[in-house]
Amino acid sequence: MPKAEAGGNATKALAALREEAAHCTRCGLYKCATRTVFGEGPADADIMIVGEQPGDQEDLAGKPFVGPAGQMLDKAMAEAGIDRSRAYVTNAVKHFKFEPRGKRRIHARPNAGEISACRWWIDQEKAIIRPSRIVLLGTTAIHSQTGRAQSLTSQRGRDLVLPDGTAARATIHPSFLLRMPDRERVDEEYARFVEDLRAMCR
Ligand code: URA
Repeated sequence: MPKAEAGGNATKALAALREEAAHCTRCGLYKCATRTVFGEGPADADIMIVGEQPGDQEDLAGKPFVGPAGQMLDKAMAEAGIDRSRAYVTNAVKHFKFEPRGKRRIHARPNAGEISACRWWIDQEKAIIRPSRIVLLGTTAIHSQTGRAQSLTSQRGRDLVLPDGTAARATIHPSFLLRMPDRERVDEEYARFVEDLRAMCR
């Protein structure tokens, strides 16, 4: 069925999936996280953006990419001519993984088992939305969507075809820019990030 005709059904299916994911116990991360942070955006989105996992602020807000990395992503998407409200933004892993340090919760990388357990959700998001292009932000998203742990350098800037046939491109995770100590290199890297995103609109 063409996407436009399937619109109402897709919106309902996505809402049902979100509700189901709220009770996810597929890996152990649900035990410490506040909630499942499901993807956000229209069910007929053409572009899907896949991050790593929710951060501290996303875990509290229940929405993906609302913290500092999200602000960086919003700015870069706007510069690249991608309207975030028209894109579907989600994460490879849907619970916040962290190590407590005093009162702070420090981000911890999801492992292969957690990425694999959560692929079940993202596969269903993709089956409903049927995006024509997917942007993979960083190595966890690459691992989730290609099924293999691979370096960003080996995948960045190439036209990728995912095992399910969807076109994809890989780029840095915006939090990489936030962690870079050298301001001059940040500007360079940021410009490259915007170019990577722009390449998805061509
Ligand atoms: N980093 C991610 O990968 N996803 C978010 O939602 C927030 C930060």
